[in-house]
Amino acid sequence: NIYPVILSGGSGSRLWPLSRAALPKQLLPLVSERTMLQDTVLRVSGWKGMAPPLVVCGDDHRFLVAEQLRQIGITPTAILLEAQGRNTAPAVAAAANYLAAIDPDAVMLVLPADHVIVDDDAFHLAVMLAADAIGSTALATFGIVPTAAETGYGYIRRGAALDTSNTCFAVERFVEKPDRATAEKFIADKNYSWNSGMFMFRASAYLAELQRLQPEMAQCCALAVHDAYSDLSFCRLDETAYAACPAESIDFAVMEHTPHALVIPVDIGWSDVGSWSALAEIKPGDKDGNILHGDVYADGVTDTLIRSESRFVAAIGVDNLIVVETRDAVLIVAKDQVQRVKQVVEHLKLEQ
Ligand code: GDD
Ligand code: MG
Repeated sequence: NIYPVILSGGSGSRLWPLSRAALPKQLLPLVSERTMLQDTVLRVSGWKGMAPPLVVCGDDHRFLVAEQLRQIGITPTAILLEAQGRNTAPAVAAAANYLAAIDPDAVMLVLPADHVIVDDDAFHLAVMLAADAIGSTALATFGIVPTAAETGYGYIRRGAALDTSNTCFAVERFVEKPDRATAEKFIADKNYSWNSGMFMFRASAYLAELQRLQPEMAQCCALAVHDAYSDLSFCRLDETAYAACPAESIDFAVMEHTPHALVIPVDIGWSDVGSWSALAEIKPGDKDGNILHGDVYADGVTDTLIRSESRFVAAIGVDNLIVVETRDAVLIVAKDQVQRVKQVVEHLKLEQ
């Protein structure tokens, strides 16, 4: 069986003020009428060989997550709760321990809850390729054609092809979040993909690699699942064991070091909706390039996203802006400065 493992722990501070710690972007209907968590679960739920999903999320979001799954008629394999997030390597390890205990041959399809994929069929094909390619030890990544020297992504250099039709390659090098100059070099070298942040492997393969590369993390996560307790339909990871776990991403902790990685390059209309401008690029604009949502008046406005949640918003003669109005906060930012929005969230944390 293949188990979709949905990571839903992030707070999405770059989509403030809509995305908040209490209501992060994956639990919001940002790109469709459904939330991104619901879209992620539904995307894969009908595929052959897919077991019900396992979701790993923060304790505070448990009822929202459970309710959003119920709304789309999904009974999950499990919802694992973290008292405190320890980043993605432990979240995946907790899921792997849980699944290995119920199904020793479990295959995991790790999916962040906050990604957009336009071409579901192409993604389905890539997942089937990965299922064939992983064998008992490989860790598969899905590579995206890079379009800019982004520093927020992992970069994967393709090595030798592993099949005759050139769909699957050994990973020669994996570099997580390089600096700008390095990212520019990678872009110039045509053999690099962005890491999509989605992975596929046997639970046993991930656990073996974690044990070898990060033994302390492996031990804490095994204990956190062993000592977990059920609370209603939730599985609470043991707080003490999990808190003692080193916090690190799967990319830094495992993927940069493992010799067992392979990459399947995909063209699936992927976006991680990492910023307001990324969201604006996904949605089709009107004839002036605007995306207007809610009670909005625009006159002489171009290439601008305006989202009103609670009040009337009027804009006149502006260009290339993002305007997001909510009940208690308003964001106005130039489209090319959206990466700085997360600093507002830092600023608010300091004020508290
Ligand atoms: N349950 C849980 N617990 N989920 C978490 C935690 C945690 O502690 N931390 C992060 N997540 C979830 C986030 O909600 C998100 O869905 C996913 O894991 C990835 O975490 P991010 O924090 O968004 O990672 P990133 O964007 O910096 O980098 C990753 O994704 C890029 C593509 O979007 C890496 O895999 C990069 O290599 C990749 O290019
Ligand atoms: Mg991300």
